[in-house]
Order: sequence, then C-alpha cells, then structure tokens
Amino acid sequence: MKLWGGRFTKATDKLVEEYTASIFFDQQLAKEDINGSLAHVTMLGKCDILPQEDVNVIKAGLKKVAAKIENGEVEFTVSNEDIHMNIEKLLIEEVGPVGGKLHTGRSRNDQVALDMHLYLREQVIELVDLISRLQDSLIEQAKDNVDTVLPGYTHLQRAQPILFAHHLMAYVAMLQRDAERLMDGWKRINVLPLGAGALAGTTFPIDREYVAELLKFDGVYMNSLDSVSDRDFIVEFLSGSALLMTHLSRLCEELVLWSSNEFAFVELDDAFCTGSSIMPQKKNPDVAELVRGKTGRVYGNLVGLLTVLKALPLAYNKDMQEDKEGMFDTVKTLHGALSLFIPMIATMKVRKENMRKAVTQDFSNATDLADYLVNKGLPFRQAHEVVGKTVLYCIQQNKFLLDLDLEEYKQFSPLFEEDIYAALDIDQVVNARDVLGGTAKPQVIKQIEYMQQLKKAT
Ligand code: ARG
Repeated sequence: MKLWGGRFTKATDKLVEEYTASIFFDQQLAKEDINGSLAHVTMLGKCDILPQEDVNVIKAGLKKVAAKIENGEVEFTVSNEDIHMNIEKLLIEEVGPVGGKLHTGRSRNDQVALDMHLYLREQVIELVDLISRLQDSLIEQAKDNVDTVLPGYTHLQRAQPILFAHHLMAYVAMLQRDAERLMDGWKRINVLPLGAGALAGTTFPIDREYVAELLKFDGVYMNSLDSVSDRDFIVEFLSGSALLMTHLSRLCEELVLWSSNEFAFVELDDAFCTGSSIMPQKKNPDVAELVRGKTGRVYGNLVGLLTVLKALPLAYNKDMQEDKEGMFDTVKTLHGALSLFIPMIATMKVRKENMRKAVTQDFSNATDLADYLVNKGLPFRQAHEVVGKTVLYCIQQNKFLLDLDLEEYKQFSPLFEEDIYAALDIDQVVNARDVLGGTAKPQVIKQIEYMQQLKKAT
C-alpha cells in the first residue's frame, strides 16, 4: 500500500513506478532526511502539535532507522519511490501507526528541499577544505621554486621568462577565488526551506525559526512558493564547480604538456601515472587527462540543471527530481579530482635545469632589450622595431641575443653599450619585473605570504 494510496483504485504500473522513483540515487540523502525529521518532530512537540510521548517514540524510532541504514540492514524499495517515503515506511514499521504523525505540517516538497540544503552545506565545506589543501601543495612547490626560471608563454610561444613559483601561484589565486565563490554560495545554501508545506505554508502553528535554530541555519525562506521552487543554490554550486574545473583543466593541460618529452619540465610521480598495454616505455599522465576530460560532465551538470529549471511554473514540479544526480555527480567528480591533485602536485618533480635551459635558448629576453633602449632615451615603439630587426638577424645567423657581440649590436643602434649583457641576463630579466604582482623573486615571496594570509581568512 502506497503512503499516498487512498485516492487510487489501481496499483501503479510497474514501469511507472520504476520511472518515477528516485530511491536509486536519493538514498544518499538518508542521513540528512533523518536529521531534518528529528528537528521537525522536535518542533512539533515544542509547539504542542504532537504530544511529547509521541515525539519521543518517533525520535527513538528515527534513530533506530538511522542505525539500521548505517549498518546496511535495510533494503530500500522502489515501491516506496524515494528516500522520504522509504524512511517514513521504515519508521512506521519500527514504531507503529504513531510514526504516521511525523509528516504533520510538512510535505515532501519542503522536505526534499531541506535535505538538499543540508547535504550541500556539508559538501561545500568539505570541498573548500580540499581546495585549500591543494593550494597548500601548490604553495609548497612554489616555495621550492622561487629561483626556478622557465619561459612564460603567450599563444604557447615563449614570451618572457618567469619564476616557476610565479606560475604556480597563479593557480593558487584561481583556487582562492573558487573557494571564495563556493563559500559565498554557502550563505544562500544555509537557509531553511522547511515549513513551506507543499507550497502555501501549513495550517499547523509551527515554529520555523526554532527548526532553523535546531539545524543551525542562518535564516528561513520568507516565501513558501520560493522555498519549494528554489534550486538557485544548486545552480550556484554547479556553476562555481564548473569554474573550478575550468581552472583544474588548465593545470591538467599544462601538466600534460610539461611532462611530455618535448617540454620535460616536470615529472609526475609513478604513483600518479599509468602505463600502456602495448608500448612498454609509456608513462602516461592519466589523472591529469581524466580530470581535464571530466570537466565536461561538470559543465554538463550545470547546463542540465539550468535547462530543467527553465520555464518551470511555480511551485514544485516532478521535473525538479532531476536536480539530484548532476549535483551528486559534481560533488563526486570534484572530490576525486581535488583528492588526487593534492598528492600529485606535492610529489611532482620539477626539472629545474630543463626549465632554465629552455629560457637560454629562446628570445624571451627581447622585451628587456627594448626596455634597455627605452632607458637610453629611445621611444618604445622605435625600440621595438630595432629589437625586432635584431631578433630577425639572430634567427638568420642561428644565434640568440646573448651570442651577439657589441659590434653586431651597434649595427642596429648606436645606443647599445657593454651593459646590454647584464640587462639580458636571465635572472636579471626576471628580477627586473619588481612591481606588485610581478615575477621578481621578492614580489613572488610577497605573493606567497599574501596568499597564505588570505587563505586563513576564508
Ligand atoms: N523524490 C522527489 C524529488 O526528489 C521528492 C519530492 C516529491 N514531491 C512530490 N510532490 N511528488 O523531487
């Protein structure tokens, strides 16, 4: 017999039952559902809506059901459709008809919303903690690489030399924004929807603020329709997650490039790579590739939920049951990616010599040659032209800027003097960028300290 069976004269078609059930995935919300019910029934007692004896019996019953679920002693059934009705059925089996009083003044519509809020609020905290630990791995690597110079790229063409620490700290900054974004969304997650009833509120004299207090919510939804219709907090979470995956995927791409023989800038630990079934020499950066690939499903989950919600009339519609799987999947995907990245970055070997070698065999100090001429009084635009010609000459001669002698330089401008060699020196080139946020070592060290402070404040 269905919990809502009274109005029906026929059994539900088996296919309909399967099709409309959400128990396959919403059983993940069992803990939240029970905690929400415990608070709800406590409030029903306090407000004299239920006698205290009934409240005590129901609470004891809910705790027994929780323990049984925990121990894997219960089997959820499709005929009970979702986690809410499964638990209510289990409660009634446990304590008898008095269990049927739990749902007084409540609907599954505000109940499911509550479960989602409770679930996400915990998950966000956990994910933000993982982000912070990944930042720590990156910061540790940055500290080890405040003297490591590599080419910085634009258009994936060598542009200007930078410190590897500087490059890593760029990711720390991105992750900081990701953590802050998720925490900002937390403010809207931590609002209580329960008490909206099905859509219009309830005839019972409930105390929503008391439930909010019991469940440690910062506030309650002030419109019952909005309360049961709102999934913005999930969209915001999925959107923040999509952006986080964007950042991780960029790091993935760089790790894949850097660990190729062509770059040979880093070596990922054996524990975080896999081999080939045919090519014995292979060591593949699978984790980085897979995280890059899984970015797609996280984007998909965001677009999926936006599409579910688009043009939905108020208030609850069954469509909204589709809000869950994408959210669970995103939480799981982020959890996996971050958990693997923390040790993978920490154990990554940086091939400092190769990075430095790369910068000595390119023209990434060309901007500095132009700046040199500007310091001697030449307008920057003309200096750019002179250096462009000098670089072209080098390419034709198969040389780099530091290989030219002063005579050769003089052909391009009389302003060149012996001190160009010092100006073109790679460490000098890096350390000359001593502006706030620049790649000079003191600035990078300042950045690391700044980020560590900012992290603490999140
Ligand atoms: N399983 C449902 C969901 O996840 C719970 C809410 C059902 N409400 C209803 N009126 N059928 O959305």
